[in-house]
Amino acid sequence: MQQRLNTNEQRPIQGAGIGLRSCHYDYILENKPNIAWFEALSDNYLNDHSSLSFLEHIRKDYPIALHGVGMSLGSTDPLNWDYFKKLKQLAKRIQPQIISDHLSWISVNKQYLHDLLPLPMTQAVIDHVSSRIMQVQDFLGTRILIENPSTYFEYECSEMPEWAFINAIIEKADCYLLLDVNNVYVSATNHEFDPYDYLNHIDSKRVKQFHMAGYADKKNYLFDTHGETIHPPVWALYKAALKCFGAIPTLIERDDNIPPFEALYKEAQQAQQLMDAIG
Ligand SMILES: [Fe+2]
Repeated sequence: MQQRLNTNEQRPIQGAGIGLRSCHYDYILENKPNIAWFEALSDNYLNDHSSLSFLEHIRKDYPIALHGVGMSLGSTDPLNWDYFKKLKQLAKRIQPQIISDHLSWISVNKQYLHDLLPLPMTQAVIDHVSSRIMQVQDFLGTRILIENPSTYFEYECSEMPEWAFINAIIEKADCYLLLDVNNVYVSATNHEFDPYDYLNHIDSKRVKQFHMAGYADKKNYLFDTHGETIHPPVWALYKAALKCFGAIPTLIERDDNIPPFEALYKEAQQAQQLMDAIG
């Protein structure tokens, strides 16, 4: 693996990055691998000063995106302003180039469920979520990216396909989309829709980042574990996504069975080669 030669914290996020995980802190700080950028899980740094110290060191050499799970943008609970205050403080320290979270809900009656749950795809929910995203963007002083979910059930009351639901929200909230290619494939398989048709319908001008990850095949459904290498059908869908949306920043996500850094680096290189091929 090449070592990074020049450090420049102001470089824009572009190319292939890797999700920053604590088991790789020492390796990164010692070896300074030649990776374009890192995405840190914001929730891990809101209260943990020792992790924050590592992030601040790594941030000196690499552009950083902050990706969270705690916004609960789809919940009917009031927005948790204590959470957003901490996130804003973190952003002030780290100066991330991207702040993102998920199009989902994780709390009800202030009980947090530790799952990114899907939303009914209705006009009322579009209005509700868009309003909350706009409040969050006003508070943080920046546009955020929202990530399409991986889902395992659907609501009978849904009125539209997921791509139409997402397009309506990102347009109304004036935010951007973090398109998780693996999530598209997982949901398409579980709900029997065409993932390529999905890509063709997404509003291309608002897609600003990709996620790539591995799923587990549970035989009668796919489970978005982030615990395996990226599967060939997801790479194939990624090639189509590059054609639709261009060579936008791509993040290799791994949250379970985390391998040595070099294994993720290889997947990042594979993504980079496909980006370079598209130009
Ligand atoms: Fe993702």
